[in-house]
Amino acid sequence: MTRHFLRDDDLTPDEQARVLDLADDMKKDRFGHRPLAGPRTVALIFDKPSTRTRLSFSVGVADLGGSPLVLDSGSTQMGRGEPLEDTARVLERQVAAVVWRTFAQKDLETLAAHISVPVVNSLTDEFHPCQILADLQTIREHKGSLAGLTLAYLGDGANNMAHSYLLGGATAGLHVRVGAPDGYRPDPGVLARAARIAERTGGSVAVTTDPREAADGADVLATDTWVSMGQEDEAGDREAPFRPYIVDTALLSAAAPEAIVLHCLPAYRGKEISAEVIDGPRSVVWDEAENRRHAQKALLAFLLESSDAPGPEQR
Ligand code: CP
Ligand code: NVA
Repeated sequence: MTRHFLRDDDLTPDEQARVLDLADDMKKDRFGHRPLAGPRTVALIFDKPSTRTRLSFSVGVADLGGSPLVLDSGSTQMGRGEPLEDTARVLERQVAAVVWRTFAQKDLETLAAHISVPVVNSLTDEFHPCQILADLQTIREHKGSLAGLTLAYLGDGANNMAHSYLLGGATAGLHVRVGAPDGYRPDPGVLARAARIAERTGGSVAVTTDPREAADGADVLATDTWVSMGQEDEAGDREAPFRPYIVDTALLSAAAPEAIVLHCLPAYRGKEISAEVIDGPRSVVWDEAENRRHAQKALLAFLLESSDAPGPEQR
């Protein structure tokens, strides 16, 4: 069976912990793991802009002994309507894995359903699971553990980061609180799935419209842009409802005294986060951005090892 990572709950709690342990090893010993030696090629496909994901996967694949191939659907036949099923058959004969940033989760699922090599979600409208692995690694580095900690996410409760915090956080046994305005609540299906996972891991999930209630005593505060890629036309409408959810020193004072602050970046200072907080002593956003590479390397190694797909070099 080929293992994919399309959503955070594609890893069990034990598997997620294994990947995070491996990520820590890979951070200590950068070139010590070479599952892509050959080199085997990994296709990195971007249908949306990216700085961190492009960098961290490109450098990470090379660290693993492999060769990254960066593509975008605009310059391939994917952008001209070639069926995903056909693209899948072509890709699997050439590359060891596919990492895809795109819009619709269902397109990622279609590709994964028709391909024999691992597919990784490097952001869709619905989920950003690679980011959450890096965030969990960062929290563990700074707090020593994960299960039982409280993470409060402030801002757009209906976006990819909110959904991935709910699923990935619950998998890690975190208490995940989402503080979001009415009209921007998480998808009910994702929330229910996260609640079921939390029942097993000892975590919990909660949604509130009150930002202080969300932040109260939290060990981790997290936020994200109020206007995700593809929502640019809504920027004006979003400003007023999101304004009370800014992560600033006032909100930080409601969190635990040693609380850390996460932001997946890019950040918009003065919108979802104040400059004082993101550039201040509680912010760990640069560790978080670096950990993308370590966490994704571990994920790729795990998926390749766990998949029994032949891969192009065995055909
Ligand atoms: N956090 C993140 O995914 O950043 P990029 O959009 O720059 O890849
Ligand atoms: N929610 C943001 C995340 C950026 C990394 C977006 O989708 O644009």
